[in-house]
Amino acid sequence: MYIDRVLSGMRPTGRLHLGHYHGVLRNWVRLQHEHPCFFFVADWHALTTHYESVQAIEQSVWEMIVDWLAAGVDPAQATLFVQSRIPEHAELHLLLSMITPLGWLERVPTYKDQQEKLADRELATYGFLGYPLLQSADILIYRASMVPVGDDQVPHVELTRELARRFNHLFGREPGHEDKARAAVKKLGGQASRQFEALRTRFQRDGEQSAREQARALLDTAQSLSVDDRERLYGYLEGSGKMILVEPEARLTENARMPGLDGQKMSKSYENTIFLREPAESVTKKIRTMQTDPQRVRRSDPGNPERCPVWQFHQVYSDPAIQDWAAQGCRSAAIGCLDCKQPVIEAVLREQQPMLARAQPYLEEPARLRHIVEEGCERARRVAQETMHDVRAALGLNYR
Ligand code: TRP
Ligand code: SF4
Repeated sequence: MYIDRVLSGMRPTGRLHLGHYHGVLRNWVRLQHEHPCFFFVADWHALTTHYESVQAIEQSVWEMIVDWLAAGVDPAQATLFVQSRIPEHAELHLLLSMITPLGWLERVPTYKDQQEKLADRELATYGFLGYPLLQSADILIYRASMVPVGDDQVPHVELTRELARRFNHLFGREPGHEDKARAAVKKLGGQASRQFEALRTRFQRDGEQSAREQARALLDTAQSLSVDDRERLYGYLEGSGKMILVEPEARLTENARMPGLDGQKMSKSYENTIFLREPAESVTKKIRTMQTDPQRVRRSDPGNPERCPVWQFHQVYSDPAIQDWAAQGCRSAAIGCLDCKQPVIEAVLREQQPMLARAQPYLEEPARLRHIVEEGCERARRVAQETMHDVRAALGLNYR
């Protein structure tokens, strides 16, 4: 079924930092209350760039999942799993590769960018070119309609949309589609049939998006439909053939930019991070030694918050009253930089305290973690298998 499923993943690149939290994880935590969510560790994706140092992957996988739980991702609401445990991703990746023009992959901006950035590694590999295709398989196999990611991932979601469209176009065609679709509408039953036709008309003739949403909801809840008929009607609603794969949308986090200690974007490669779980003394020290306005040399020199990374932290962490106090105190030299930093330190520690507490039980008892992932993998696999069943059928591969 094409319920509004959310899917997202992260490569296991080591401990997460506050940039991940503000950029992506907070969004995950919010979404898990609103939709069925699938969050996974993209360990195969880690191999595309780190195939020469595979020993580090395992530890990063577990650490990252602890960080997710620490951030408030709730395994009772969201499904947490590991990519390599669901081999169906690889099967879909392979099948999609048959219909993916090389140019679509070569054009993805991250391809050339990353090759240049990581010039010390040999990345002229098949796997690396296929990185976004594997990502598309990750998304499409759960028929996810929403993908919460950072803006760097938007081109990958865009590619995924194009692939879904191409796949449905190539394999959603069936002889007599219209007749079959009309017969399926009848199976919805008297009132629901008429309602569906009316909504379809309002969407196709008048472009009413809300009518489309309602029609989809109607299909999702219709008990009487087979999987085939539901795919037909999804496509019929759009004016296309069967809709076997679903076109997803990227969901960006608002206000996602978390500054690093130096005022650049927080990123492991800039060494300007505060980890999600970091001892209080270390956090305090990092902030106390942070760069400030370089032109504020002496305590008596007035400063300019616009030139200061600490001010950017205030914008993330402080309420308007404290922001005013800091900005005015800085400009008039009424406060020193250490005074100014104190409320930031307190706010970061306050944010981290519940995270440390949530992580504790998993650190004490790693078996709990394994159990969560075990269950998540099972749930994910069921959905992936359902999709692959339809995909194989569409490709004529379900013969025995
Ligand atoms: N490429 C993503 C990143 O680097 C990770 C990823 C892999 C992903 N598969 C995905 C994200 C599917 C969202 C959906 O962050
Ligand atoms: Fe930065 Fe605050 Fe110092 Fe001004 S007072 S330079 S905003 S740390």
